[in-house]
Amino acid sequence: MKGLLMTIKVCAFDAYGTLFDLSSAARIALKDYDKKTGGNYSRTVAENWRLKQLQYTWIRAITGEHADFWTITCESLDWSLEKSNLHNDTELRTRLLDLYRELEVYPEVPKVLAELHTLPIPAVILSNGSPQMLKSAVEASHIGKYLEDLLSVEEVGIFKPSPKVYELVLKRYNCLPEEVLFISSNGWDAAAAKGFGFLTAWANRANDPIDRFPWTPDFILSSLIKVPGLVKRV
Ligand code: 2OP
Repeated sequence: MKGLLMTIKVCAFDAYGTLFDLSSAARIALKDYDKKTGGNYSRTVAENWRLKQLQYTWIRAITGEHADFWTITCESLDWSLEKSNLHNDTELRTRLLDLYRELEVYPEVPKVLAELHTLPIPAVILSNGSPQMLKSAVEASHIGKYLEDLLSVEEVGIFKPSPKVYELVLKRYNCLPEEVLFISSNGWDAAAAKGFGFLTAWANRANDPIDRFPWTPDFILSSLIKVPGLVKRV
């Protein structure tokens, strides 16, 4: 694709799983459990937590029963802990939620955002996360200086992939869908954003098969490392 710099007006990043490493909370909090038991609680809890978290957002969006992402995150954690029979450990629950507020970023994120920051194109977050969650995660990882906006679905009261969420970028930047490069590690999010009309990059961190939807992302990457290159390519 030629002349991207001429057409991209905003780079919008999904947050959880794209910038922030979702597995880091369970990895840290359950390290000792895993060592003691020889089990893989950190992985199971992280995977079930995310699975239920996403399912809850989709059901909430379809039924119109919105609750903010922090509520969803607590409820899905409770399901996940009960599934692993860890639900009586209230200290563990508190620790996991504290860590979720300050999730680690993936290793390449600061470098990628710093490089994008040298270009005349704003980088923003567009996320299901509530404003407070986004603010605390961004502050903890010191990436706020590279981001012009933290756009939260709370402005429209519905989760992705509602078009109302993707429209937030157009309203804020007075631009067309094809002038937005949207980057997500969530295949369904990248696909739905493409259906909305964004130029999209799917950062396929898990090397997953492509989701079977009518829309295919414009770019498939294995991490975010090539995003500045995509934007600069002329
Ligand atoms: C986000 O919106 C979907 O979790 C993802 O940040």
